[in-house]
Amino acid sequence: MPRNPYADPILAWYATNARDLPWRRPDASPWGVLVSEIMLQQTPVVRVLPIWEEWMTRWPTPAALAAEPPGEAVRHWGRLGYPRRALRLHAAARAIVERHGGEVPAEYADLRALPGIGDYTAAAVASFAYGRRHAVLDTNVRRVLARAATGAEYPPNSLTVAERKLAESLVPLDPAVAPKWAVAVMELGALVCTARSPRCADCPISARCAWRLAGRPPHDGPARRG
Ligand code: ADE
Repeated sequence: MPRNPYADPILAWYATNARDLPWRRPDASPWGVLVSEIMLQQTPVVRVLPIWEEWMTRWPTPAALAAEPPGEAVRHWGRLGYPRRALRLHAAARAIVERHGGEVPAEYADLRALPGIGDYTAAAVASFAYGRRHAVLDTNVRRVLARAATGAEYPPNSLTVAERKLAESLVPLDPAVAPKWAVAVMELGALVCTARSPRCADCPISARCAWRLAGRPPHDGPARRG
């Protein structure tokens, strides 16, 4: 059994099915990736797109945002919701200027130490912006892995040690492939292996998905969004 039996089919699927999102393009800056990840945490991609573009034009670097009063970040948050995220980004921008000379750091530990940056965002930026090998565990990834590897319809309510170990064991060893795997499995969860109406017929790993092979048994207990 290869280290990750899902990687090849999911990477092949991603190559032809991924959405072309500006923060995934090769010319996206680490700052653009960081801003996108904070915006995407509680807001769908289609609503994030115009606001992200506006932010990148207005504040192309952490220093540009850090030079503004925090209220400006909130004012330009638009209708993304949860505007405290704008203040978190502003605080992170100021810390990036003070501690890292205005460059978004590449190390997970430095990212994690920034104000308002949690485990998910630190891993996502280290992986997507800098190509580091990290398990990037958002709800979409957790759901795909729960279904494929453990046969459960949904992951546990909060992240468990077992989930993290599983996810870490699946990160491809090749550093050129690891970040692609992270974004590809996330995209599969967003587009195919969705919470409520998964399209198993279109899934590149349906033949080896434990949940599908078990006949898609429903989660027992209250209905879950995640
Ligand atoms: N690509 C990279 N990170 C993403 C996210 N959080 N949501 C959607 N697409 C992404």
